[in-house]
Amino acid sequence: MADSGPECIGCFFSEIWKESSIPVVEQFTLGHDILERHDPVHGTMLYIASMTISPAFRGKGLGSMLFPGCLDRVAATFPQLTYALLLVNETWRHARAIYEATGFKELVRFKDFFTPYGTAHEDGIVMRRAIQGN
Ligand SMILES: CC(C)(COP(=O)(O)OP(=O)(O)OC[C@H]1O[C@@H](n2cnc3c(N)ncnc32)[C@H](O)[C@@H]1OP(=O)(O)O)[C@@H](O)C(=O)NCCC(=O)NCCS
Repeated sequence: MADSGPECIGCFFSEIWKESSIPVVEQFTLGHDILERHDPVHGTMLYIASMTISPAFRGKGLGSMLFPGCLDRVAATFPQLTYALLLVNETWRHARAIYEATGFKELVRFKDFFTPYGTAHEDGIVMRRAIQGN
């Protein structure tokens, strides 16, 4: 979490999954039950579900600091983690810039995964990065 005084201005949400080598689309549907996959004791895959910076604070470099900072902190807290995984909409260029700068690479693409306006179809890109040192 990032804060500015008493105000929360940024969040990073993650789960720890039992590793699955090739991600399948069903794993990423909204509303999945975290209890089906979250295993903070034995899980080795960090799934980064979301990151957000409050609109008034965007474009100031905070997301670029929050993302790797949270990733490092979770990796240090859960030393069994081997990989981090996330799903990003192909059109979210700011988020993709942060993930690429942090070393994430495209692993799988889910065609037309997102339908944000009911009619438009946008691809979902699964990106993955090894967690060094763990
Ligand atoms: C994605 C998000 C977290 C980025 O946080 P941020 O603090 O605004 O990002 P930063 O200021 O660190 O910038 C990240 C990159 O986007 C670019 N960027 C950010 N705002 C920009 C703007 N208004 N115009 C052009 N580029 C912009 C930056 O230049 C940087 O790219 P670079 O490293 O290649 O220069 C934030 O925009 C957000 O919360 N968006 C809505 C939720 C979302 O999409 N979350 C991600 C998927 S779950």
